[in-house]
Amino acid sequence: MTETILKAREGAVAILTINRPDKLNALNDQVRDDMLAHLNAIESDDEIRVVVITGAGDKSFIAGADIGEFAGRSPFDQRQAMRFPRIFDVMGQFPKPVIAMINGFCLGGGCELAMSCDIRIASEKARFGQPEIKLGLIPGGGGTQRMPRLVGLGNALRMMLTGDMIGADEAQRMGLVEQVVPHDELRSQTLELANRMAAWSPLTLKIAKEAVRASQRLPIEEGILYERDLFCLAFSTEDKAEGVAAFLEKRKASWQGK
Ligand code: COA
Repeated sequence: MTETILKAREGAVAILTINRPDKLNALNDQVRDDMLAHLNAIESDDEIRVVVITGAGDKSFIAGADIGEFAGRSPFDQRQAMRFPRIFDVMGQFPKPVIAMINGFCLGGGCELAMSCDIRIASEKARFGQPEIKLGLIPGGGGTQRMPRLVGLGNALRMMLTGDMIGADEAQRMGLVEQVVPHDELRSQTLELANRMAAWSPLTLKIAKEAVRASQRLPIEEGILYERDLFCLAFSTEDKAEGVAAFLEKRKASWQGK
């Protein structure tokens, strides 16, 4: 049987590739379950410090949920398919940085998955959209909540109320992606970024991500208190002692993840 997700390793970076290129990597139940299983395994693998998510083939990152699965489904069936844990939330709360490497169509649930990642790098060929309105639907993978936080209310509503697709440059201008690169440099530039993160202490990566993510759900006063707690928590790690000592001794730090 064809694997729905391919997993590769480059040093401390895991690359998960959704592997349904003949269906433009549409997300079906199997892909979602397999993605959760991979993320679960990666979470407890100390050798892996950063995760990259991409789509197989040259045309699509993810063209959304598998529309074939919607036909004939009752609301109860759909509710079951949307049971927790959901990949969108798992990605956002994942303790290691997750980068979306967007190699083509990034639509519907694909765009929502990309928005759940920490950072988005897109090929100049990538196309973005929330086309659910064309199906008589609305985004259901967190898009109505995550997109306005990234791009503002007006841009999010424009995307969702028209269903129009936009190109990578426009997506970058509105804040939907952090970086646009030539198509043939997508992998090298993404891995270069992933490796720059992977070089740091995995503990510090984790608490930095947790603190920044908290800004999306906490009022600023509470967020700042939470940051102070996490900052002081970092003082309990051997890596903090090592980082400070290495600076004072003018040498390179050696991170132990402790
Ligand atoms: N669900 C299921 N199958 C999908 C799919 C999806 N979201 N997106 C693409 N596919 C399938 C097509 O049905 C086609 O399969 P087939 O060869 O068995 O007929 C195959 O992927 C290739 O897609 P195709 O439409 O022929 O490619 P294209 O280049 O002409 O168009 C898109 C590309 C992305 C514009 C078009 O496929 C599309 O609009 N897809 C749906 C996007 C969407 O609405 N996503 C949100 C879902 S909630």
